[in-house]
Parts: sequence; structure tokens; C-alpha cells
Amino acid sequence: MKFFVDTADVDAIRELHELGMVDGVTTNPSLIMKSGRDIKEVTAEICAMVPGPVSAETVALDADGMIAEGRELAKIADNITIKVPLTWAGLQACKVLSGEGRMVNVTLCFSANQALLAAKAGATFISPFVGRLDDINIDGMDLIAEIRQIYDNYDFSTEILTASIRSANHMKEAALIGADVATAPPNVIKAMANHVLTDKGLDAFMADWAKTGQSIV
Ligand code: E4P
Repeated sequence: MKFFVDTADVDAIRELHELGMVDGVTTNPSLIMKSGRDIKEVTAEICAMVPGPVSAETVALDADGMIAEGRELAKIADNITIKVPLTWAGLQACKVLSGEGRMVNVTLCFSANQALLAAKAGATFISPFVGRLDDINIDGMDLIAEIRQIYDNYDFSTEILTASIRSANHMKEAALIGADVATAPPNVIKAMANHVLTDKGLDAFMADWAKTGQSIV
């Protein structure tokens, strides 16, 4: 499973990128707002660092506006993925932009039928939001499993980009189901390294090592 990092915080991306943990980046209008940066400037900086797909989201609500914004965002770098919402207009924009050979990430997906439409419209990525489904007591991971089955049934090449990930457990579940990609905030990716027994075991080893009076270097 590829790891995308869900942030526009350049320093946080760099830390994970240096460890080889970043296959791509996703941003959205809220993350750009949080960064306090100009969208084109910060996106260009991210694209220069990360060679994989970097999603930049359109904000127009009509197809022509999304297409115009998508073409403008695509000028930033070759690895830009244009992110459009899963509305009828978004699907129309997806069809045009993907037809021009551009990568398109269809976002705000909350149902298998929406994912099916995005694949038909030529999406490179579909972004089902698991955390926001969990928030309303619908199991977000059930949606990932449904989309996996549908895409496999018909050999769609659209990649499942599990989004709105809130926990390390979400990462594990997405990988078990066979999502192609998971995009997560930096703290969630780092939390995957944590285990209480690792901490406990390390404490015990350190206590015993101190009793030996030895040093390695
Ligand atoms: C990614 O593409 C999405 O914009 C992001 O995962 C949304 O996450 P949230 O539901 O935590 O805001």
C-alpha cells in the first residue's frame, strides 16, 4: 500500500519523506488554510520535494470552472493530481481532465456507487472518506471493501485512495482490505510505530543494561 501524507505542512512532509515514507501528498482547501501559505507556492514546494502524485484541489462548483482551475494547477508541476469533488460537475471535469492525460483524484466519496461513477469517468484515484463515515456511525472501512470488490470485479484501474484516516488502525485495515493508497496526517503515520509492549520491553532492557555498567561506544 502506498502512503500519501495528508497535509500542506512542508516540514512535516520532509521529515517523513527523508525516511522513505511518502509516496505522494494530498491537500485540500482546509489544509491550505491551515498552512497559512499561498496554494501555488506551497504546492510547488511540495512537488519539488516529493516525486509522486501531489493532489491540489479545485474550488469551483461548476465543471468549466473546475476544468479551468485544474489546468491552472497542473502548470505547477508534472506530478500534480487535480482533485475534484464527487458531484456531477466533478465527474464531468474528471472526464475532460483525465482525457487530457492528467491525473485526477475524485474526492469526498461516501458511497460505492459514487466510486463506480468516478472509475467510469476515468479517475486516477478515488478518495473515500472513512473517518467522516465513522463519525456518523457508518463503518468507513466497509466502503473500502465494497469499492475494492467492485473495482476488482471489472478490472477498473482507478486506485482506491483511502482518505480521512484518523488512526493507525485505519491504516492497518486499509492495507488488509487491499486499498492501493492510504493518505494520513503525519501524526497517524508516526503513530504506526507505537506499541505499548515495545515501550515496556525497551524500559526493561535499559534497566538491565544499566546494571551491567557497560557501554557500547
Ligand atoms: C484527503 O484527500 C482528504 O482531504 C482528507 O483525508 C480529509 O480528512 P478529514 O476528514 O480528516 O478532514
